[in-house]
Amino acid sequence: MDLSTTFMGIKIANPLIVASSGLTSSVDKIKECADNGAGAVVLKSLFEEQLITGKAKLINQDDMYFWYPQALDFVNTISKEEGLSAYLNMIEKAKKSVSIPVMASINCVTPWEWPRFAAQIEKSGADGIELNIFIPPTNINLTGYKIEETYMDIIHEVRKHTNIPIAVKVGFYFTNLYRTLYKISNLDINSLVLFNRYYRPDIDIETLRVVAQNVYSSPHEITLSLRWIALLYGRISKELVAATGVHDYQGVIKQLLAGATSVQICSTLYKNGVPFLRTMLDDLEKWMSRKEYSNLAAFRGLVAKNEENTAAFERLQFMKKTTGKLF
Ligand SMILES: Cc1cc2nc3c(=O)[nH]c(=O)nc-3n(C[C@H](O)[C@H](O)[C@H](O)COP(=O)(O)O)c2cc1C
Repeated sequence: MDLSTTFMGIKIANPLIVASSGLTSSVDKIKECADNGAGAVVLKSLFEEQLITGKAKLINQDDMYFWYPQALDFVNTISKEEGLSAYLNMIEKAKKSVSIPVMASINCVTPWEWPRFAAQIEKSGADGIELNIFIPPTNINLTGYKIEETYMDIIHEVRKHTNIPIAVKVGFYFTNLYRTLYKISNLDINSLVLFNRYYRPDIDIETLRVVAQNVYSSPHEITLSLRWIALLYGRISKELVAATGVHDYQGVIKQLLAGATSVQICSTLYKNGVPFLRTMLDDLEKWMSRKEYSNLAAFRGLVAKNEENTAAFERLQFMKKTTGKLF
């Protein structure tokens, strides 16, 4: 059975990629993913914001930094450089200890840091880089067009300064999601990862505080990426990588049938343990042999190709047919 496919244009042994998260935040954890059969890993994102605030939060309390703000800038720069070099170090070590592709991931806040971080990451030997871009649509003065333009600018700048393969991981907060994804896919990138799942604050009604609930996805969340993978399949020229809500081998198969080239998984491994990768792969192989598919290409996009199915993916409203049945 041939489960091989590609991610960022690089051949991987199977379509299961461990998504950027705490599961890939150290060399030991990366090794655990590889030992349990992951096709590739995307490292925990390097968040520029976190590098800046880590030390800055503490020293902000010191009067000296209030009166001499340039001192704070200096310390910020140092903590950023320390954080960046620790990340580069992890990539170098991970590359030495596993044979699967190791992809880095970054999320920056300063425009010029995107290409700078990416160029350093390329030098450290990462096989590819995932741009975890999110510009929160919470500024009333920022038009949808301006936000989208910023996404394009970031990708463009990173490409200008690096030669490694690029994946772009985005959410779905766009005015016209279809057009934006289409525009991104026309840039010089390799893969489009749909979709990131962001932090979802909740409220504890006893303590009246904001709390982090729903950190992990649930299987029913698969439908959003399933729809968009199916709608984009055959219409854009880049690899479609499914993310969010894939919790079992059935989810993997659904995404492949919708047209995904590979699938990123995270919550299910937090819940079931990293060795669950093996179970998912075994079950995928069993299904393929039952259906007599010898490789992924034999069924990839099969459901999305069917016009009747495309209509179902495009439909947004529930409508009663004349038969009275809810479609
Ligand atoms: C604890 C945790 C940490 C995460 N950290 C990152 C991150 O650093 N960068 C990123 O792009 N996504 C991050 N994610 C999102 C995951 O990569 C993934 O896209 C999301 O959880 C949806 O996939 P799932 O339904 O399989 O969990 C994180 C998710 C979790 C649960």
